[in-house]
Amino acid sequence: MSVTTPEIQSQLDSLVSLETGEIDRRIFSDEQIFDLEMKYIFGRAWLFLCHESQIPKRGDFFEAPMGRDNVLVVRQRDGDIKVLLNTCTHRGNAVCRAEEGNVKNFMCTYHGWTFGLDGELIGVPGMSTFYANGLDKSKHPLRQPAQVAGYRGFVFATFDPDAPPLEEFLGPTGILSLDLIAEKGDMEVVPGIQKFVLRCNWKFTVDNVFDFYHPQITHMSAIAVGAIPVTSNVIDDGGAKNEEGQDLGVAQLSTDMQAITMLGEYGHAISGPSQLAVEAQIPQEYRSVFDWRHTPETQAKLGPNGSLVGGHPHIFPTTWLTVDSQLSLRIPRSPGVTEVWWFSFRDKNASPEEKAAQLSRQIHAFGPAGMLEQEDGENWSQSTMQTRGDQSRRVPQALKMGIRRGKIRHEDGLNIIESPVNEYAQLWTYYAWKEWLKNPSWDELRTRTVPGDLL
Ligand code: FES
Ligand SMILES: [Fe+2]
Repeated sequence: MSVTTPEIQSQLDSLVSLETGEIDRRIFSDEQIFDLEMKYIFGRAWLFLCHESQIPKRGDFFEAPMGRDNVLVVRQRDGDIKVLLNTCTHRGNAVCRAEEGNVKNFMCTYHGWTFGLDGELIGVPGMSTFYANGLDKSKHPLRQPAQVAGYRGFVFATFDPDAPPLEEFLGPTGILSLDLIAEKGDMEVVPGIQKFVLRCNWKFTVDNVFDFYHPQITHMSAIAVGAIPVTSNVIDDGGAKNEEGQDLGVAQLSTDMQAITMLGEYGHAISGPSQLAVEAQIPQEYRSVFDWRHTPETQAKLGPNGSLVGGHPHIFPTTWLTVDSQLSLRIPRSPGVTEVWWFSFRDKNASPEEKAAQLSRQIHAFGPAGMLEQEDGENWSQSTMQTRGDQSRRVPQALKMGIRRGKIRHEDGLNIIESPVNEYAQLWTYYAWKEWLKNPSWDELRTRTVPGDLL
């Protein structure tokens, strides 16, 4: 017997518990839950589409996902930006097959209906013959999402006409997240978005964004070959010995790295080591990655708390920004398949040598050629696979690190926890996720996702 939407919604509180830190594995493989995610998260949230630098000239376009829909972000003749649903209003074919480029208009390859840059239907083959001029072209434009807005060049859209304005949705946590890239200079996206597919549930790729527990183990080989810039391997595997004093090979972490976690409304979060901890760990040749932080202007813009962030920001539901100026979209394709996109940013005014060095660091870390995501991807695929076993799926996920010890300080609109490495941001993301799936009003959703004083 199939479970209805209201039945699933009534079970959500039992699937994710802030009190125990336990999460039901069903949320990673259930088709109906995936459908609810598409409807109530991706059908409502502001979603990142692209950066304005990708479409500088009139007729430039970039195709981006919004849930299961594809949209074209198009630079208009007057310099404005419009977002068009990439589906022909005749019989549904995609009106554009390219992922990005420059056009004068969009001609559908099925029967030739042609749409202007603004989405208006401007050409219909056989208008005077087959249609006997009886088709009202003004009634068949390409459809558009309800709202489109930008923040410092980052373009977002939402299908929900009732969604709050973009900056209200982002709130101080989301805005700080984008500022951490935008403040680095006159930022532009390096041409060419890296795209690849992983066989895992999208939420594993999201909760890993904040996971500074795993690098020392998962990325041991990347650390060994110098792909992760840390001064020393922080593994201490000598902690566990048997009665004869033999090493049991149990990995223990010797790091006491301090972390800063910020929990935002609607499920946004920033979490990871503090800036000071990061700078203490990285070798000299990588220091330039952080130099920009130390100017008085930047410190003033980011504020005292923002200046201390050294970890990863995440804008709910799927936009991750990295320390080295990359942005990743984790795009759900099905419960078990996620597409990952990487946008790499650089300062337009940087020297050719700086640009080359940064790009080399970026592509060696993340993306299909990056060591980190190859290692992460294996874990996420296995974790997803185990949520399908009849017995394995009954074992709850345990996100208990630091639980009930996270004292939240509320300052500058931010909700800050200073502590050792933890799982607060992951738990917060799952908590917000289940509140989104209940489909409350925007006011109610915001109220429910304002962090209290303890997590
Ligand atoms: S489906 Fe596009 S012209 Fe027919
Ligand atoms: Fe990783």
